[in-house]
Amino acid sequence: MPKNVLTLTDQRTDKTYEAPVDEHGTIRAMDLRKIKTDPEDFGLMTYDPAFMNTASCKSNITFIDGDKGILRYRGYDIETLAEHCTYLQVAYLLLNGELPTPQQDKDWTWEITHHTMLHETTKHFIDGFRYDAHPMGILVSTLAALSTVYPEAKNVHDPESRQKQIVRLIAKMATLAAYSYRHRRGHPYVYPDNDLSYTENFLNMLWKMTEPKYMASPVIARALDVLFILHADHEQNCSSTTMRVVGSSQADPYLSMAGAASALSGPLHGGANEEVLRMLDEIVSVKNIPAYIKRVKAGELKLMGFGHRVYKNYDPRARIIKSVADEVFEVTGRNTRLDIALELERIALADDYFVTRKLYPNVDFYSGIIYQAMGFQPEMFTVLFAIPRAAGWLAQWNEMIQDPEQKIARPRQIYTGVGQRKIPTTQDEKSAVKVG
Ligand code: CMC
Repeated sequence: MPKNVLTLTDQRTDKTYEAPVDEHGTIRAMDLRKIKTDPEDFGLMTYDPAFMNTASCKSNITFIDGDKGILRYRGYDIETLAEHCTYLQVAYLLLNGELPTPQQDKDWTWEITHHTMLHETTKHFIDGFRYDAHPMGILVSTLAALSTVYPEAKNVHDPESRQKQIVRLIAKMATLAAYSYRHRRGHPYVYPDNDLSYTENFLNMLWKMTEPKYMASPVIARALDVLFILHADHEQNCSSTTMRVVGSSQADPYLSMAGAASALSGPLHGGANEEVLRMLDEIVSVKNIPAYIKRVKAGELKLMGFGHRVYKNYDPRARIIKSVADEVFEVTGRNTRLDIALELERIALADDYFVTRKLYPNVDFYSGIIYQAMGFQPEMFTVLFAIPRAAGWLAQWNEMIQDPEQKIARPRQIYTGVGQRKIPTTQDEKSAVKVG
């Protein structure tokens, strides 16, 4: 009968150790600590920059099989959720583990709809930003500022308080995002309209001008809802990990989410969608693609929107986005950048450099093309990613707070600096001069 145990022989000491291997195929890193050269030795550690092979939590929320290109929230395939659900239903699923019943759906939608307003002082806070402030900077800062509006949010071990902040954050993300856009445009803020769905209301707060009531195109509102579903969670990515790490110090969820949104803003993470558009604009025309690919292969540039730490196959979200694009273009007209993107994908996927490295289009490759066709400037793209990712961040945070195995996140380091030394005295300096 094989034992679920890893046997390790330390050839430095000739000693043998056993570490249990659990049903997930993992060993406890702390089991390595008992491997010592002598009693004074600290014990063995693993060195894993960028967490390439370290599981930092157990989670019930999102499953990814990167080799097969599978993404599931709470067991449901992303394709099924995108086809049959609304973003708010998916947010409920991520947070509660089950899709809502019709009554729960109604109550949840009512709750979110009735928490979309911002305190007037928060509006004034947004007013204080420069006219050309990047909307992601506004979003991050205003999320942190909400911590001052809801001081009771620091009671992170009170489930009722947690639920209240979760509702507020999901509801207010759309308002914060819309106001960050309106501020940049110099347009007056539009108050939420409770008759509308989550995405219709978001579009209302973005685009309403003097008309008494703003009604979004149902095709655009549904396409945005699908995009929100696709972006809602992605297990332990850089921003969700940040949410967990900041939250592990028991900081309140507004501050933790400001941290998560900051992580998302980087061009290697959620900021990639903005960079893809800039890249397509730089390429200008299909005929310039081979020269661009040559520069990528020479290591001069990265092909933005390509590659993923986990997916070594086509990102399933990118496939769904491609099909949504066709529906959007029927309403908005075709974005000419799509031709460049499609050709770029075709050439890259036939090229040995990309094939051997398993670099496929990721979620950010096509999303910007749709956002732009909908009328968004590239600066708004990462904000559009952040709105639904709030559901994932909060689900991850809520799970972490309730996990008895979690403590304050605090990795180890390998110190490579100088050993102990003393500040030279004047006397030492004098003797050094003499010696010299
Ligand atoms: N273009 C060209 N080469 C690439 C790319 C790319 N987009 N991505 C990875 N590579 C190369 C990389 O240079 C390396 O080559 P080599 O083995 O010769 O050194 C190899 O592929 C492995 O890449 P890596 O950097 O070790 O992979 P990683 O897992 O650390 O990085 C990534 C993953 C997403 C940061 C990276 O693929 C990347 O920078 N992509 C472009 C930015 C992007 O699209 N980000 C969005 C990610 S999906 C949504 C999200 O998470 O927000």
